[in-house]
Amino acid sequence: MAKGKNATVFFCQECGYESSKWMGQCPGCRQWNTFVEETISAKTSGKNLTVGEKKRNQPSALTEISLEEEDRISTHMQELDRVLGGGLVKGSLTLVGGDPGIGKSTLLLQVCRELAGDKREVLYVSGEESLKQIKIRANRIGEFNDCLKLLCETSLAEIEETIRRAKPDVVVIDSIQTMYHEEISSAPGSVSQVREATSLFLQIAKGLGISIFIVGHVTKEGTVAGPRVLEHMVDTVLYFEGDRHASYRILRSVKNRFGSTNEIGVFEMESSGLKEVLNPSEFMLSGKPQEASGSIVVCSMEGSRPMLIEIQALVCHSSFGIPRRQTIGTDFNRVNLLIAVLEKRLGLSLGNCDAYVNIAGGIKIQEPAIDLGIAMAVVSSFKNRAIDDRLIAIGEVGLSGEVRGVNMIQARVQEAKKLGFTTCVIPSVCMESVKDMRGIKLIGVRSVGEAIQLL
Ligand code: TYD
Ligand code: MG
Repeated sequence: MAKGKNATVFFCQECGYESSKWMGQCPGCRQWNTFVEETISAKTSGKNLTVGEKKRNQPSALTEISLEEEDRISTHMQELDRVLGGGLVKGSLTLVGGDPGIGKSTLLLQVCRELAGDKREVLYVSGEESLKQIKIRANRIGEFNDCLKLLCETSLAEIEETIRRAKPDVVVIDSIQTMYHEEISSAPGSVSQVREATSLFLQIAKGLGISIFIVGHVTKEGTVAGPRVLEHMVDTVLYFEGDRHASYRILRSVKNRFGSTNEIGVFEMESSGLKEVLNPSEFMLSGKPQEASGSIVVCSMEGSRPMLIEIQALVCHSSFGIPRRQTIGTDFNRVNLLIAVLEKRLGLSLGNCDAYVNIAGGIKIQEPAIDLGIAMAVVSSFKNRAIDDRLIAIGEVGLSGEVRGVNMIQARVQEAKKLGFTTCVIPSVCMESVKDMRGIKLIGVRSVGEAIQLL
């Protein structure tokens, strides 16, 4: 790039891939039509990435680094604390992404309320809503105290000035796509603006030890840069997801420099804000039909937490030459594979049947440990024979119809026991690890065939 001259480049709005010419498909993330032309001034591009105060940095010996207790701040929301890896880390930068309207602003306003309740200074910067709109939302959530300050601003310079003056403990930026830097000519929400804004907040977080939450909208159309563009810059990336029509929301961590990334937090959207769901299994199983064929309960591990979920299958005679197969909430190919195993190994004639498999509650699971449950649900619907309501099935199914072992079997069985299940069908290789478990009947199976005998 010529010195002092502005240059135009094309950025993928999904993943931030940079190119000197426009392309139809992004080589980085394979999305179509995501390239947008942006001007970057030579002055600002990529220069802001130094972290902390400007002093000469000396290398230090690993053995000399003292490991004093990391400063963790509890948000008093158990579900969020767990996803963060045990509380909010001081001086960390956290990205909260999600579809518009899913509840990101609500969640963060509630976090602000809890933190302010602990007498921590909190600054909530909104570039999307007016003070009155935030007040209306806050009224639904509850009482707030004076430690929470609101600021409606989109200019980065102004926000930086305010933060440096007020030195709050926690800052929320809602949303990163509305913020703009005067020296960058491209529009707010473009890749260069979003990156510049994030690198500024990174500097503030690390330099002043302020924990910052950034809200990022996920977009389908690519009109504003997606949160993926900045995932690599922040410490923690949380995605808030859920079915718009269902009331529960799942907070998932996809990157966490301070904890495990498999954890999820479950919330329910109510008229007075988000409520934590401390026992998601109970929540997921509410409304399960009694004595209905094709319905079975399985156990999926979400991070360190087992979650019981109902699987439903419907198998009926097909009126077309090619039978219809459909899945909601789980992998389509995997279900097809299981149906093929049932045909070949058990001799069931499913070839002229339509089959539908649904994970109840609108949740998505990819874990192979639910294979056995899917297979049993399909057979139960095919034979029109209901499965015992107090039975749960755990196990991965292989191509020769064998039932393979799964991890964390103890936690899964324990959860089933806790929720009042009386029988647990598990892989026989896992029997050894749960032989001390009392109060629940354990049946070890070696193959799908053996499991089907139980129906
Ligand atoms: P919001 O936090 O504005 O979403 P985002 O910031 O992710 O765009 O949440 C919007 C939805 O949540 C909106 O449809 C209304 C609903 N809602 C409730 O159901 N109850 C509540 O108490 C609040 C504050 C919002
Ligand atoms: Mg919002």
